[in-house]
Amino acid sequence: MKTVSTLFDLRTARLSFNGTVGLVPTMGYLHEGHLSLIRQAKAECEHVFVSIFVNPTQFGANEDLSKYPRDLERDLSLIEPLGVDVVWNPTPEIMYPAGYQTWVEVDALTHPLEGAIRAGHFKGVTTVVAKLFNAVQPHKAYFGQKDAQQAAVIRQMVRDLNFPLEVVVCPIIREADGLAMSSRNKYLEGADRAAAVVLSRALNAAKKEYEGGERSAEALRRKMKEVIEAEPRAQLQYVSCADYDSLEELEVVKGKTLLSMAVILGKTRLIDNFVLG
Ligand code: PAJ
Repeated sequence: MKTVSTLFDLRTARLSFNGTVGLVPTMGYLHEGHLSLIRQAKAECEHVFVSIFVNPTQFGANEDLSKYPRDLERDLSLIEPLGVDVVWNPTPEIMYPAGYQTWVEVDALTHPLEGAIRAGHFKGVTTVVAKLFNAVQPHKAYFGQKDAQQAAVIRQMVRDLNFPLEVVVCPIIREADGLAMSSRNKYLEGADRAAAVVLSRALNAAKKEYEGGERSAEALRRKMKEVIEAEPRAQLQYVSCADYDSLEELEVVKGKTLLSMAVILGKTRLIDNFVLG
């Protein structure tokens, strides 16, 4: 496994491979969710590149950029046994040199949900992912359903800008109690960690209503809200029952539907989702 930092070293490494290349973009502090993406890339591609870059442009001014967890040594030791060919760990100066001024923005899909709360977040995500795609030129790129809107936005960007690659979206990996794995779970302390199960519990409650025949989107949103509000430590930011492709809020559930939510527990902001239909 080769670890590179500069664009020159990355490109030199890339040029040494003729077969299919899969890219797994990450911000590091890897967990089983990231590793599942790497395993799927490994199963489907001849060569696998993993990028580790805490992208400053996708963090808001009041967000957790400076304290985002980082541990490159640990990340490399987790990746090494998986048969990854290249780990790319650029610096912010490599990705955004002085005078940087080009941005990639997806329109309507970035307005609701996470986009409504985290202004500029998706602009940072699509810009860095476009740069990662241009540098690595993968045949396939792997993203997690955990960040459902991010996956939808990237699929849209790939279609709109004709990136010659396939976006593969992999299932959410969860802890034993149902909490979706996230690098930010590290911030959860004691009672907040225990209370964090409320997100998956709320999604499951709505799913059960759906399976019992409920098709009113408002009833499903109300159910999720009710479960979250029963947990005194949890502060609800939004619950959504939206069309899977357009992310527009529904009145009546039909076809593929995304149930999603954002909840604050202590100082930690958590998101989770479930797909119906
Ligand atoms: P990061 O949060 O490190 O996540 C990297 C990838 O892992 C994303 O595609 C994310 O959806 C996926 N992932 C995270 N938790 C998961 C889980 N529990 N199960 C399955 N997949 C999971 O998302 C980012 O980084 C950044 O925005 C990035 C795309 C790298 C651009 O900077």
